[in-house]
Amino acid sequence: MHHFGMMRLLRFIGLAGLAVANPVTFDVDSVDSTSAAWPNGPLVTSGRWIHDAAGSNVTYAGANWPGAADTMLPEGLQFQSIDAIVDKIKGIGMNAVRLTYAIQMIDEIYDNGGKDVTIEKALTQALGVTNGPKVLAQIIKNNPSFSASTTRLQVFDAVAASLNKAHIYVHLDNHISKAEWCCSTTDGNAWWGDTDFDTTKWARGLSYMATHGKAWPNLVSMSLRNEPRSPDDKSAAATASKKTYNWQGWYKFVRQGADAIHQANPDVLIFLSGLGYDTDLSAVTKGSALSPGNDRFSLSDFSGYSNKIVLELHNYQNSASSCSSLESGLTNAGFSAMSSGSGLQIPVVMTEFGFMMDASTYKGVYATCLAKFLPNLHAGWTIWVLSGSYYIRSGKQDFEETWGLLNHDWSAWRNPTYVKEQLEPMIKATLSA
Ligand SMILES: *[C@@H]1O[C@H](CO)[C@@H](O)[C@H](O)[C@H]1NC(C)=O
Repeated sequence: MHHFGMMRLLRFIGLAGLAVANPVTFDVDSVDSTSAAWPNGPLVTSGRWIHDAAGSNVTYAGANWPGAADTMLPEGLQFQSIDAIVDKIKGIGMNAVRLTYAIQMIDEIYDNGGKDVTIEKALTQALGVTNGPKVLAQIIKNNPSFSASTTRLQVFDAVAASLNKAHIYVHLDNHISKAEWCCSTTDGNAWWGDTDFDTTKWARGLSYMATHGKAWPNLVSMSLRNEPRSPDDKSAAATASKKTYNWQGWYKFVRQGADAIHQANPDVLIFLSGLGYDTDLSAVTKGSALSPGNDRFSLSDFSGYSNKIVLELHNYQNSASSCSSLESGLTNAGFSAMSSGSGLQIPVVMTEFGFMMDASTYKGVYATCLAKFLPNLHAGWTIWVLSGSYYIRSGKQDFEETWGLLNHDWSAWRNPTYVKEQLEPMIKATLSA
C-alpha cells in the first residue's frame, strides 16, 4: 500500500478517540470596485465567522502548497512558473493557499548571521551535487526572475506576490521543525521538546515569519504547528517531551506561540491545532478541564487579541463507511463550535483532508461526505494537496504524489473529472453566502 495512505490510515487507527464569490477568471483588471481594497484586512473573528474589515464573511476554499520538505522551497517550480500554478488554483475559483514552511529554514538564517541561504545551496544540500544544480537550472528556466543567488525566502515572497495578484489569501503554516516529509510519532518533531522540536527555536521561527510576512498584503493567517502528536520514540528528549503531551501542556505551548506571532504581527489570525495529529479539539470546544490541570480554554486568555483565534482540524478517515458517523465524529472533535448551540463560538477550518486522485476514490463516502459537510457548515478548508510531485520526499527524488490535485509535472489536473464534478461545486458552495 502507498506509504502515504498507510501513514494516514495508521494515524487514524491510533486515535481514540465570505463571502463574496471570487471571479473565476484570473483577470485582475476586471475586478469590480467593491474588491478594490482586497484583501480588506486585517481579518478578525466574530463568533464562528471570519470577517474582513468591511464586516463581510470570509471563508477559505483552497489547497495546501507544501514548502517544508528537505529543500525548504515551495514545490513544483522545476516544472512550472509560479504564475502558471497560481493560474490553476485561481482558475477553479479557490481563494486560499496553505503554504507550509519548516523552522529549520529560520534556524539556518540565524546560523548564517541573518542571511538566508541561496536556492543553489539549498537544492545541492537536499538533492546532491549532481541533481541539485540540474533542478536549479529547471527552476530558473521556468521562473526566469530567479537565479542561483536567489534565496529561499525570496521564492516564498514570489509565491505570495503571485497569489496576491490573483487575490488569493495566504495562510502560512509551520509544518515541522526539521525540514522533511511530515509526520509520524517517531520523527523527532511530534511535540514540544521532542528531539528535533526545540520550543525556543520554534517560537523564534514563528516570530520571524510573522515579521517577514508583514510585507505580504495577502498574509491573513498563520498556524502554530501542524499536527501535534504523541512523541513515541525512545530518545531521552521524546521521553521527557511526552510528559507534557496532554491538554494542559497543549495550552501552555499554544499560548506561547500565539503570543509570539501576535507580538510580531498583530494583523494575522492565529490557527490552533489539536491533539492526535490535529484531529481532536474537543476539550477546547466543550470547555472541559485541560487535564491533568483544571484550567479551561478561554478566548480571554489571548489578551488583547481574542478576536484573532481560529481552530483548525484535519481529517483522514478515508475508509469511512458512514457519512453520518463521519459527521458526528467531526462535530464532536470541534466543529460543534460552528453551531449556534455551542458555548464557545469560534471558526473551525479543516486545513487538511485528501485522498487518492484515481478514477473512483472521490465517489466514495469520505470524499462525498466532506464535499457536503464543509460547505453546509460554511466552514473553510484547504485540501491536501496541490503537489503533483515533490523535489524529494522520504529520500526519494522527483516523488510522485498520487494524492496530488495536479499531475506529476504540475501541468494539468490529475483527475479533471473530480475537479469538475466535485471540487469546483464544493468551492462554489463554500464561497456562496
Ligand atoms: C455570514 O453568513 C451567514 C450565513 O450565510 C449569514 O447568516 C450572515 O449574515 C453573514 N454575515 C455577514 C456579516 O455577512
